[in-house]
Amino acid sequence: MKRIYSNISLAERNSFGVRQQAATLVEFECAEDLRSYFEEFNPEKWYVLGAGNNTLFMQDYDGVLFTPINQERTILASTDEYVDVRAEAAHDWDEFVEWSVNEGLWGVENLSAIPSSVGAAPVQNIGAYGAEAKDAIIVVEYFDVESRSVVRLTNEECRFAYRESIFKQELKGRVIILAVEFRLSRKANPNLGYGDVILEVESRGGATLRNIREAICAIRARKLPDPKILGNAGSFFKNPIVERSVADNLLQTYPDMPHYAVTGDDDHVKLAAGWLIDKSGLKGYRDGVVGVHDRQALVLVNHGGATGGDVMRLAGYVCSKVKENFGVEISPEVNVI
Ligand code: EPU
Repeated sequence: MKRIYSNISLAERNSFGVRQQAATLVEFECAEDLRSYFEEFNPEKWYVLGAGNNTLFMQDYDGVLFTPINQERTILASTDEYVDVRAEAAHDWDEFVEWSVNEGLWGVENLSAIPSSVGAAPVQNIGAYGAEAKDAIIVVEYFDVESRSVVRLTNEECRFAYRESIFKQELKGRVIILAVEFRLSRKANPNLGYGDVILEVESRGGATLRNIREAICAIRARKLPDPKILGNAGSFFKNPIVERSVADNLLQTYPDMPHYAVTGDDDHVKLAAGWLIDKSGLKGYRDGVVGVHDRQALVLVNHGGATGGDVMRLAGYVCSKVKENFGVEISPEVNVI
């Protein structure tokens, strides 16, 4: 069943809370809904708007937005070692994590409290606290707009990397994700290596799934603003990956600069954009209705009434200051439309 809206407000459909409109928005449940819509209207300009947690609208959208509404979850296989589960694109991400923790299934607990939907998770391979969605994803199923058919990609075919996948590269602009299948483990596999996680987990009595989830929810709540209260899209920028020599030079001046290895690539190092912005003196910086969050400099916030343009002007300013101070380019993680 699909529902079609015209000239619809997007204010409640994007976590930045910018007040733009879309000419058309189609809520769909299944591939058949999409096939029939494309056959009838063949829209040239379209975009998928999931829960709107990682999209910044710069102006009214004059094309068609497709929003999934199917939130079902189905067990595909269950063995002594693992459970394979399929969740449809509109399934809330954190409800999926909560379900897995209740069932005693390991693999996504470190991704607790990320504002997202299941369908959006593979696109930028959401990640936090040493885990990424790719660690648990086995298949992504999508509607291919060119061939109007349903396609299934294995984990390997999705070409996941840090905040990257084939859906942001070769397949950009031709897929609408329908569902994601995950393999979750029955075997305990705590991943506590990142930052304060181990301390928070130990203070709760040890590495159970529930304690890990609660520890991560607590850490996030301390640093990240709730989009229902203060409009934002989580990290606005990606952490930049630079040549090792660039990092080494900076480390001579700033020996305490956070830096991380890039898996499988010894020539590059990942820096913390939040640290670079903070050290540029911009944490808590405010420019009218927009600002840099005062507890996590990687997050840009809408203090109320901001347009997409306001946010982008601030983003440009932040990038230029980081470049001026450190010679490092940072770029948005958020999709700017
Ligand atoms: N830092 C500062 N000042 C700041 C922010 C960070 O000095 O204002 C320093 C921290 O002290 C730390 C380092 O920078 O040494 C990294 O900070 P943090 O651990 O908070 O994580 P992050 O690199 O800023 C990434 C993800 C987050 C994710 C956290 C935890 C990206 C772009 N962001 O942030 O993801 O929650 O790690 O794993 O990779 C998101 O994508 O929306 C998001 C929130």
